Amino acid sequence: MDLQGKHIVLGLTGGVACYKGADLARELIKAGATVQAVMTASAQRFVTPLLLQSLTGRPVATTQWDTTQPNAMAHINLSREADAILVAPATADFIARLAQGRCDELLSLLCVARPAERCGLFIAPAMNREMWAHPATQRNTQQVQQDGAVVWGPASGSQACGELGDGRMWEPEEIRDALVAHFQPKVLRGRTVLITAGPTFEPLDPVRGLTNRSSGKMGFALARAAAEAGAQVTLVAGPVHLPTPAGVQRLDVESAREMQAAVLPLAAQHDVFIATAAVADWRPVHEAQAKIKKVTGQSSPQLELTENPDVLAAVAALPKPPFCVGFAAETHDLERHARDKLQRKRLQLVVANHGPSTFGRDENQLLLVDAQGTRELPAADKLSLARALVIDLAQRLPPTP
Ligand code: CTP
Repeated sequence: MDLQGKHIVLGLTGGVACYKGADLARELIKAGATVQAVMTASAQRFVTPLLLQSLTGRPVATTQWDTTQPNAMAHINLSREADAILVAPATADFIARLAQGRCDELLSLLCVARPAERCGLFIAPAMNREMWAHPATQRNTQQVQQDGAVVWGPASGSQACGELGDGRMWEPEEIRDALVAHFQPKVLRGRTVLITAGPTFEPLDPVRGLTNRSSGKMGFALARAAAEAGAQVTLVAGPVHLPTPAGVQRLDVESAREMQAAVLPLAAQHDVFIATAAVADWRPVHEAQAKIKKVTGQSSPQLELTENPDVLAAVAALPKPPFCVGFAAETHDLERHARDKLQRKRLQLVVANHGPSTFGRDENQLLLVDAQGTRELPAADKLSLARALVIDLAQRLPPTP
């Protein structure tokens, strides 16, 4: 329920992507928002106000000449109630009208009338690729951005007209997540954060290797939470099947040595390093170039292991290390083991959790251990915990110059 308590004015303008606009209304409501739909005359040719009313539980606003409003000022009432105005889909024509500050129909009128300092305006363009590429559309889009609107998209791909290119509206889930991010406190604005996540895979031969059960979910949740908080985030990920959080730069690696090679050159340029990865402590000494074959009756191959580099300890030992946060997955004596890691690896903070019971789960429970003491973050889903951790972390950082 990331949008609980938020009131969103959702504007639909006339394009095929209106069906996605209807879906977006559902996504916003599922996330806890109340949604007031506003439709232009051309939007009503693609989907009906009845559909949007059924989805949002509110009559759709379609005209500025609404005499059922006691003060007859729909544009003022709608824009004063809203925490954000989201226009999805936004056509080339609507963007042009917005660029000119036109006020002759309800949606563009209420965008102009909105109290800009507390009600953001977000627009998700959707149109044919030639219309998007046209200099007038590009000029108008730049103008509305200069005037304070935030433009989400468009994406590239196959279009309703059968062509292929830029102009697809962002998917409803992407727009919902971007709106959720907008409402998060910007406690890491201006900061750079480097995160490792997931397991590593240490090859034994071209088809086999040593790995572990880390899902990467906590690290990916932290990357998302840090990006939502305004940080510039780089995520170095071991082999996991998770989508990259919006706005995060991702580097994929496999082994501990690859992770070390990706992290070390970047670490000193970051304010914070968070090591959530479950890096394999050992790797096979020999990596066979061809698949090791089983020969019945012969003795099984012997596994000789050697120690992997410790990525976190190496970063913490840099001449000018970033603020270093380690993770500890333990089965017992959480605080004692965490404190030991804090000192041994010279970290500023260790985040401890019960390893086996949380691997792959969406929920977790954290114990923050620093030189001064401990703080518990009670059981919650990993994204809520990540957001709480980001807020805690922001308070520990030295002020930005
Ligand atoms: N870490 C790392 N590189 C390694 C090993 C661990 O960066 N080669 C980081 C992990 O990302 C995590 C922390 O160090 O932040 C975990 O420390 P570690 O002592 O390796 O933890 P465990 O292996 O879980 O501890 P132990 O061996 O004591 O059970």
